[in-house]
Amino acid sequence: MVSTVIPVDPFDLVIFGATGDLSRRKILPSLFRRMAVHQTPSGSRIIGAARSKMNRAEFRKLAREPLAEFVEAKLLKPELVEEFLNAVDYVAVDAAGDGGWAALARKLDEKPGNVRAFYLSVAPELFGPIAGRLSSAGIATPASRIVVEKPLGHDLASARALNAELRKHFGEAQIYRIDHYLGKETVQNLMAIRFANALFEPLWNSHYVEHVQITVAESIGVAGRGAYYDKSGAMRDMVQNHLMQLLCLTAMEPPSKFDPDAVRDEKVKVIRALDPLKLSDTVRGQYRANGKDGSYLEHVGDPASRTESFVAIRAHIANWRWSGTPFYLRTGKKLSARLSEICVVFKHPPHTIFPQVDALRGNALIIRLQPNEGITLRVAIKDPGPGGMRLVEVPLDMTFASTLGPDGEMPEAYERLIMDVIRGNQTLFMRGDEVEAAWEWTDPIIRAWTEAGSRPLPYDAGSAGPIDSYKLTGSDGHLWREIAA
Ligand code: BG6
Repeated sequence: MVSTVIPVDPFDLVIFGATGDLSRRKILPSLFRRMAVHQTPSGSRIIGAARSKMNRAEFRKLAREPLAEFVEAKLLKPELVEEFLNAVDYVAVDAAGDGGWAALARKLDEKPGNVRAFYLSVAPELFGPIAGRLSSAGIATPASRIVVEKPLGHDLASARALNAELRKHFGEAQIYRIDHYLGKETVQNLMAIRFANALFEPLWNSHYVEHVQITVAESIGVAGRGAYYDKSGAMRDMVQNHLMQLLCLTAMEPPSKFDPDAVRDEKVKVIRALDPLKLSDTVRGQYRANGKDGSYLEHVGDPASRTESFVAIRAHIANWRWSGTPFYLRTGKKLSARLSEICVVFKHPPHTIFPQVDALRGNALIIRLQPNEGITLRVAIKDPGPGGMRLVEVPLDMTFASTLGPDGEMPEAYERLIMDVIRGNQTLFMRGDEVEAAWEWTDPIIRAWTEAGSRPLPYDAGSAGPIDSYKLTGSDGHLWREIAA
């Protein structure tokens, strides 16, 4: 199945921090892929902006390098690479000083009809100063868009300050806060499954759902990013944003329309309905060495660090739909596999006519984000053969790659999100109040951990995390799914 590509309007995308890691790994390769399928019209420009003094040819050379590394070889046809590089330009801009802003203004004025978007791929301390310059130098028009990405604050107070700073210069409808999980195909599919099928909605509540598990497990550690990660930890790095988004999309009420604010209103309501977390609803872990790969403490270079590289949570949503259904969240580094999934576990049938039903795990809908994006419905059937009425559980499996065919490849999250910025569609971006509400929920528990002064529980690198995370679900009679790719 080949997906339909609808071209966006011609645009100028200015990337601040264009020589940085995110630009190299994600932004430039994603723009290339969209250009390769003719979604970006000619006349569009990708304008790098950074402090380094460089000319256009030098930046083009830099922009070419990540393509070989991060774009599939079959797409790298020489004429496409040339076309892409022809659209690339550069202006040296001093984000915190005066240099380069007039030159950037002149460059953008060459194409006044292009959609203008500014991607701030820089440290959050620079969001305010850059937004201020864009507005005072008259570079940002009322139709321009500004794109920012986590960390969006370190806690509620800093997130509020950041939002206030951005809103001094840009309206909320111009601010695109990226959570790249929302750009993942299967995350969007969660909405499609829930709101485009009549099948699930009647069962999507605490009468029928026993519990929900959301797992985002990573096999990589923090080596290389230790300095950032150690100030953050799994709660700030993953739960406050990515897992919270998955929780919201799973639990939200159907919006009245598929419109950015209608969707985001419903998500905010979920966050606000979350019961405050108790310490006993959380398990923190930190990986220790297992084999030659080193421990968390070695990776961050601080033998006394109490930052968690794993967290498991039991959350309760206090509303009519979900009262009584626990939502378990867990995420961690150096776990046994890279696996992200949402598993909705249904209750057992109310009356048992087959003796083994109680021994089965029950129906479950598993939405796999990565790897092998797809959906599986676990159902009980009769074990084939003449040996009587024995039951087995089998997966009704829909792996998107095999169902949609080889051309149904999943685009990178950033491809979708950057095109949405140009289209002016904020549905898959976080609104300011949503980010603040998420901090409001996570802040007290982070504070409580610090006050308790306890160390995170050690777990072996390559395992499923601390054994206590199993006690968390086990005390409710539930069992985490295995972390296996
Ligand atoms: C980032 C976190 O936001 O998400 C990283 O800062 C994490 O620590 C990454 O590794 C995970 O993203 P993905 O898309 O690889 O699941």
